[in-house]
Amino acid sequence: MAYDVASIARHFELAGKPEAIVPITTGHINDTYVVTENAGGQTARYVLQRINHYVFKEPVQVMANILRITKHIKSRVSKADPALASRQLTVIPSDEEPGWHRDSSGNFWRMYGFIENAVTYDTPESSDLACEAARMFGWFQGMLTDLPGSPLHETIPGFHDTPRRLRYFQQILAEDKCSRAKGAAAEIDFVLEHAALCNVLPDLVATGRMPVRIAHNDTKINNVMLDKNTGKGVCVIDLDTVMPGLSVHDFGDLVRTAACPAAEDERDLSKVVIDVSLFDALAQGFAQETGRFLRPVEKSHMVFGGTLITFEQMIRFLTDHLAGDVYYKVHREGHNLDRTRTQMKLVQSILEQEEILNGLVERAYSNSPNDAN
Ligand SMILES: Nc1ncnc2c1ncn2[C@@H]1O[C@H](COP(=O)(O)OP(=O)(O)O)[C@@H](O)[C@H]1O
Ligand SMILES: [Mg+2]
Repeated sequence: MAYDVASIARHFELAGKPEAIVPITTGHINDTYVVTENAGGQTARYVLQRINHYVFKEPVQVMANILRITKHIKSRVSKADPALASRQLTVIPSDEEPGWHRDSSGNFWRMYGFIENAVTYDTPESSDLACEAARMFGWFQGMLTDLPGSPLHETIPGFHDTPRRLRYFQQILAEDKCSRAKGAAAEIDFVLEHAALCNVLPDLVATGRMPVRIAHNDTKINNVMLDKNTGKGVCVIDLDTVMPGLSVHDFGDLVRTAACPAAEDERDLSKVVIDVSLFDALAQGFAQETGRFLRPVEKSHMVFGGTLITFEQMIRFLTDHLAGDVYYKVHREGHNLDRTRTQMKLVQSILEQEEILNGLVERAYSNSPNDAN
C-alpha cells in the first residue's frame, strides 16, 4: 500500500523540510521510513512509522505508553550518561496530538529521532552479540522498575495468557474445520501431554510469589540497537508491546529466538537445538542487569520461561494450522505445521538440557551484581 508519506511527515515538528523518504524493510510489524530533513544546510534523520492497527487495536494507548516509557528512560539515562541519553528513542511531537498523527484513512503515524551510528542484527552471529542484546533487555527492564503512575495499558490483551491460548487451541481442535488434525497427531498429543506447563506462571502470580513487572514482550535481538563501532548496546526499540508482564517471559522469548540459530520454519529438525554457548551468553547478559532487582523465584524460572514461551508459540502455530492458516502468513503448504515442529523440537531440546541450562543461569546470577537478595 502506498502512503503519501511526504505530507504525513509534514505533520511532525521538524526543524527543516523533509528532503528524502526511504522505506526500511527489515521490520515485520510496522511500516517504517527514514525521513531526511534539511534545515539551512544541516541535515537530520528521523524514523516515520505507521502503527499496525490490525495487531495493535488501540494505537492511542500504544503511544501513551511509549511517551511515558521514552521520557522516563531518557531522564534516568541523562543523569548517568548524557551522551547515551541523546541516543535513546525520542518521540517527535506532531501538530495535533502529543506524539502521533492520524491520517485521513485512519492510519496512525509516529516519528522518532533516528539513532545514528547504530545497527541491528537479525541473527545471533556471535556469543558477544547474544550477551549484549540480552544485557540490553535486562537493562530495559531495570530502567522501568520505577516508572511512576498507573500501570501501562495492555496493548495486546492476554498476550501471554497461555491457559487462554490453550483453551482456544482445544476449541479449534474440536472443530477441526479443515480436517488437518489427523496429519498433526504427534504435535497435538505433545501439546495435550504438556498442558500443565501453561498454569505454572499464572499460579505463581495469582499467589503473589511472582511479581508482574514491565516487560518488553518482543525480545528479538533486532530490537536492540548496538553502536556500529564498539558493538555496545545503545537502546532498546520496538516498544509497542511494552506492558505489564513477567521478566521470565522476556528472557524466555530471547531463548526461543536467539539461542538456536535455525530459522523458525526450518524443516531439517536436526538443526533445531539449543546452542548451549549462545544460551550461556544470553543468561550472562540478562543476569548482569537484572541480578539486582529480580526475586529468587524469577531467577529460578528463567529456563522455564524459555520452555513456556516456546511451547506457547508452538500452540499458536498449531492452532493456526488447524484453523486453516488465518493469522500467520504462509508461503507453502503445511508452513504453520513446519513452524509448529521447530517449536516442539526446541521445547524438547530445552527440556532435555534443563539441568545444564539451569546450572548456567544459576552461575550467571551468582556472578552478577546482586544487591537485593
Ligand atoms: N529510531 C530508529 N533509528 C534508527 N533505526 C531504527 C529506529 N527505529 C527503527 N529502526 C530500524 O527499523 C527496523 C524496524 O523497526 P521496529 O521499530 O523494530 O519495527 P517492527 O515492529 O516492524 O520490527 C529496526 O530493526 C531498526 O533497524
Ligand atoms: Mg522490530
